[in-house]
Formats: sequence, C-alpha cells, structure tokens
Amino acid sequence: MKLSGNTILITGGSAGIGLAFAERFIKAGNKVIITGRRENVLQNAKEKFPDLITHVSDLSIESQRISLFDWVTENYPEVNVLVNNAGIQQRFNVLKADAKNNWNYFNKEITTNIEAPFHLSILFAPFFFTKEEATIINVTSGLAFTPFAIAPIYSATKAALHSFTMSLRHQLSDSSVEVIEVAPPAVNTDLGGAGLHTHGEPLEDFADGIFKGLEEGKQEIGYGTSVERLRMSRDKVDEHVENMYNAMKNTIE
Ligand SMILES: NC(=O)c1ccc[n+]([C@@H]2O[C@H](COP(=O)([O-])OP(=O)(O)OC[C@H]3O[C@@H](n4cnc5c(N)ncnc54)[C@H](OP(=O)(O)O)[C@@H]3O)[C@@H](O)[C@H]2O)c1
Repeated sequence: MKLSGNTILITGGSAGIGLAFAERFIKAGNKVIITGRRENVLQNAKEKFPDLITHVSDLSIESQRISLFDWVTENYPEVNVLVNNAGIQQRFNVLKADAKNNWNYFNKEITTNIEAPFHLSILFAPFFFTKEEATIINVTSGLAFTPFAIAPIYSATKAALHSFTMSLRHQLSDSSVEVIEVAPPAVNTDLGGAGLHTHGEPLEDFADGIFKGLEEGKQEIGYGTSVERLRMSRDKVDEHVENMYNAMKNTIE
C-alpha cells in the first residue's frame, strides 16, 4: 500500500497497537479516523495527536457498525483504508465458565473479534472497489496459528479472521483493493487488562517493525516470534501450544 495521502479508519485506534499505528500514519501524511467505546480514551489520544479524528462506537453491536460505515463514508468519502484492529482477549477455565448464565460475556469476544471485522470488511469492500487504491488491514495474532489454550475463544477468533482474510484477498485479487494481515506476537499493551502483556514486545518497536513490512509490500506481516509461527509446521505447532499451555495453565486454575 502507499503510505501517505490516504484517509484511514482504524477501529480501536484509541489505545495500544491501534494508536501506535495511528501515530505513524499521521506522521506519514495521512488523515486518520480512530474509534473506540470510551470517549475519554479517544479524547486522550486526540490531546496527544490533535490531527486525529475520533468517533465513539461499540463495534460488537451490528447497528453501530452500520452507523460507523454511514458516518465515515458520508463525512470522509475519500476514505480508502480500513484497519480492523479493535479486539478483546478473555482468559478462562472452561470448567469454571458458568456459560449458562454468562454467555453474553463470552460472546462479546466473538462479536468484537470476528463479527466486527467480517461485517466492516464486507461493508467497505464494495465501497473501496471503485477507488484507484484501497487497503483493508486485518489485525489477527500469532495465536491464530498457535492457539493459547487459556484464551480459547480469543485464539479461535483470530484463526477465523486469518481464514477470512485469505478468502477476502482472493476475492479482491483482481481489484484495486489490497488485503493485508498483521499478526502481532505478544505486545506490551493493556489487552485483556493492564499488566497481562508486560512480557510482550515493546509497542513502539513492534509498530516500527510492522511499518517496515508495509513499506516492503508484504501481505502477511509478523514480528518477533509470530514471524516463525505464521509458517510453522503442524508438529511444531503442537509442541509450541503445549509448552505455552503448561507455562500458563496455573493462571486460570
Ligand atoms: N497486545 C498483544 O499482545 C496482541 C497480540 C496479538 C494481537 N493483538 C491484537 O491487536 C489488536 C489491538 O490490541 P491491543 O493490544 O492494542 O489492545 P488494547 O490496548 O486493549 O486496545 C484495544 C482497542 O480496541 C478498542 N475496542 C475494544 N473493544 C471494542 C469495541 N467493541 N468497539 C470498538 N472498539 C473497541 C479499545 O477501546 P475501548 O476499550 O475504549 O473500546 C482500544 O482502543 C487486537 O485485535 C488484538 O487482538 C494484540
């Protein structure tokens, strides 16, 4: 994708990875719109980077995804890049989940991490189809390839988004719409709650690494350990998944 002169919508751009991407896109000469559920977090982002355009919306809700699409395409009809970045992570023990009373809690991970990027991609693809250059970037995870057994729904949502992204790329291959997957390893953000990802890659280094991949024109971009996991053999996947589970299973007991 070209890295300047775009109008870019980043879902969940108010914090973490989305905000680090927003900062880099702004500095490279793009117009950037960020979304999130919490207005005060969006405001904090705007105080840091006054050129950001902010919009409150909860993308786990179908009507709010449609309103976001309508608002963006009416107010910024030149929009040509969608970054499906918003996501949540829940770690839990299936034996203690009480899914009879709590399904809304678990389903939120599915609506946020799968329904939202699927729906927004399918809303924006025909709109982008008429543009000279457009890009859809889906943020998956290294866990799409090596599931983290203590976050079973999360890992499955990211595997689904990886699969969807491959299909989308094929369907749009004869068009001007490029489809890129970013698969982060653990990165030090507040994903899943403050303190859970402090062991992860430093956010700024990670974001610089991904932008290098964008500059190089890669379609699937990993960083650190996720580079290898994107192409791991099935035997190595099994070994990696078992090691990760054994190292962390006590945290959900
Ligand atoms: N950090 C990692 O280790 C890691 C690794 C692999 C993949 N990823 C992926 O990278 C993406 C960004 O994660 P992050 O680490 O930057 O997490 P984060 O710091 O928790 O940021 C998540 C962002 O998404 C927004 N968001 C969450 N639910 C939303 C909803 N229903 N509607 C609209 N916005 C919503 C949040 O704002 P509000 O809470 O205000 O809505 C926030 O802006 C996610 O897709 C995540 O799965 C992260």
